[in-house]
Amino acid sequence: MSVIPSLETPLGPFMLKNPFLLSSGPPTASSEQIGRAFRSGWAGAVIKTIRPDGMVIEDLSPRFAALKDRNGAMYGFENIELLSKRSVSYWTTEIAEIKRNFPEHLLVGSIMAAPDPDEWRDLAGEVASAGVDALEMNVSCPHGMPEQGAGAAIGQNPQMVRDLARAVCGSVDIPVIVKLTPNVTDIVPVAKAAQAGGADMISAINTIQCLSGIDIDSFEPLPTVAGYSTYGGYSGPATKPVGLRIVSQIASSVDLPVIGIGGVADFEDAVEYILAGASAVQVCTAVMWHGAGIVREMESGLREYLARKEMSSPGSLRGLALGKLKAHQELDRTRRVQPSLVSPSACTSCGRCVVACRDGGYHALSLHRGRLVIDASRCDGCSLCAHVCPEGAITMEQKAL
Ligand SMILES: Cc1cc2nc3c(=O)[nH]c(=O)nc-3n(C[C@H](O)[C@H](O)[C@H](O)COP(=O)(O)O)c2cc1C
Repeated sequence: MSVIPSLETPLGPFMLKNPFLLSSGPPTASSEQIGRAFRSGWAGAVIKTIRPDGMVIEDLSPRFAALKDRNGAMYGFENIELLSKRSVSYWTTEIAEIKRNFPEHLLVGSIMAAPDPDEWRDLAGEVASAGVDALEMNVSCPHGMPEQGAGAAIGQNPQMVRDLARAVCGSVDIPVIVKLTPNVTDIVPVAKAAQAGGADMISAINTIQCLSGIDIDSFEPLPTVAGYSTYGGYSGPATKPVGLRIVSQIASSVDLPVIGIGGVADFEDAVEYILAGASAVQVCTAVMWHGAGIVREMESGLREYLARKEMSSPGSLRGLALGKLKAHQELDRTRRVQPSLVSPSACTSCGRCVVACRDGGYHALSLHRGRLVIDASRCDGCSLCAHVCPEGAITMEQKAL
């Protein structure tokens, strides 16, 4: 059977041309950026969070810190940036213009106000009547705003999430997305509170509260603002495991479309989120690093993947991994895996697996005349050796007990 896949993706009442959306952040800080991104292929965008004009935004400089591997590739990113510096009237004018130029694209207005239902209602009404297709309630920013009782301070309190979602949902007639924070012990009561308040969709995750580093010469925490710093929000590839966990928990506990966010940089990341129950994904950090053009590879990669899997659309993947997540005690203990040197020519006898197994495992590996020897009687099947092998020469093979 040969399938010609379509990337069309239903998201609540909307039909997106693909599952890729820009999330609220620097890439959606102006109408010009949003327009350029739409022309590159993004199906939609969530505007940088709009706040009431009375909520003063004074950004710090610098406000970013990056964690990179030895090759200079970024794997984690911290920001202490605040909300949109542009006024409500800038956005209401630009929203109408963006919708005139891109009527087929999903335009979402992200909003945040003080924990006062009237403030949320007023802002929601203004932004909705400018013509956005949906609103996203930012109750999840972990820095700067919680100190004022807003952002994650709301998202960490299920009752406030429910009450403010109820206020917003009752005041507009477009779908409302509630964007949740990962900085809670249990996401499920918060997701259920959003649903109880009338949310039409949930997006997650916003950034993870962090301290990304400390300069060991100056003793200054990063990013350093005139010698001092504050806790910030962590994003980028390193956060995907947290995002996937939270999205799968939300998708398993509420009956609402979920938008997956956190570390998406390519189509494979997006597929993982969809398998974990997301209907679509949002991207911020990868666009800041590589530009909005990454969506072209994401689209072609997803199309080829779906064809290879003989699947007709991204929707056919949704939630397929959820049934494979079980409680720890329920997993199969009747099997073990054991290392096997499947490609002996790839082994360079570097000894990393031997050292790892000796000092961090079960002392089951040794090198004899440059050849790896596996002592099956000592091996506990933990798989550390395969993970540390820089050549990928070791694979783990199933053994029944
Ligand atoms: C510099 C920066 C600014 C951000 N500003 C906002 C914002 O104004 N509103 C919001 O809801 N999320 C904001 N975010 C969070 C992102 O929308 C997203 O939830 C988070 O970065 C995780 O996705 P990523 O790993 O693709 O970046 C911001 C993120 C970054 C890195």
